Amino acid sequence: MTSRFPFLPCFALAVAASWVVVVVWPHLQLGGLEPVTIEETGAVYPPIRSGEALVGAEIYRSLGCQYCHTRQVRPGTMGGDIARGWGKRRTVARDYIRDQPVMLGSVRFGPDLANLGCRETNAAALLLRLYKPSAIVPLSTMPSYGQLFDVRPAPRGSSDSHNPLALRMDSSANPGFEVIPRAEARALVVYLLSLKADELFLEVYPREDLQKLNSVIGMDKARALP
Ligand code: HEC
Repeated sequence: MTSRFPFLPCFALAVAASWVVVVVWPHLQLGGLEPVTIEETGAVYPPIRSGEALVGAEIYRSLGCQYCHTRQVRPGTMGGDIARGWGKRRTVARDYIRDQPVMLGSVRFGPDLANLGCRETNAAALLLRLYKPSAIVPLSTMPSYGQLFDVRPAPRGSSDSHNPLALRMDSSANPGFEVIPRAEARALVVYLLSLKADELFLEVYPREDLQKLNSVIGMDKARALP
C-alpha cells in the first residue's frame, strides 16, 4: 500500500525553506556590509590585514585554536564577557567582514580572543605562550605548539643565546639550547596581535552616547546608517 503522504514534495519544501532561512535571509540582511570610516580618526574599520597576518590566520585555523577559543563577545545582557575584560562592546557582523573563513568558535576552554590585541601587545610573551604555556600560567591546560619552533644548541661558551629572535626564558628550562620561532609562529603572533574589535560605530554605540550623537548629527542621518 502506498502512502498518500507526498513525501518528496514535502522533503523538497523543507530543504528549500531551511535554505532560505539559513542562507538566503542572512545573506540579504548582512551580505552587503561594507567597512566603515571612523569619523574621529579617518581610519577604515575593519582594517585590511597584512599578508603575514593572513598567513597567521591560516595557521590559527590549521592548528585548531578555534576549538578552544571563541572570537565573539556577547552583549552585557547575555553573559559576563564585557565584565571579564574580553571587550568593551559586543561583537557585530561587521567585525568579521574581512575574515575568510570566519572563526567564531563555539567552545571556551580558554579566554575569548576577539580583542586579544587590545590587552596583549607583547609579541615575545605570545611566542613564549605558544612554545610553553606553563611558562606564563603555571597550571595551563593549553597545549604547547613546539612544532612552530626550532630548538638547537646555543652557540658554544654562551649560557644565553645571542640570537635576537630566541625566546627569552628561564635558562634552566633548556640548558645549552636556544628556541627560535619559525616564520609560522611569527605570522601567527602577527595575526593574534591584529585581533581587535573595539572600534565604536553606530550599530555598537553605547545608548547614552548615541542619544548625544543624534542630537548633534540629527536623527535622519543616524537612522540612515546601519
Ligand atoms: C585544548 C584547548 C586549547 C587550545 C587548542 C588552544 N588553547 Fe589557548 N588557551 C587555553 C586555555 C585553557 C587558556 C587559559 C590558560 C592560559 O592562559 O594558559 C588559553 C590561553 C590562551 C591565550 C591567553 C589569552 C588571554 O586572554 O591572555 C592565548 C593568546 C591563546 N591561548 C592562544 C592560543 C592559540 C593561538 C592557539 C592555537 C595555536 C591556542 N591558544 C590553542 C586552551 C587552549
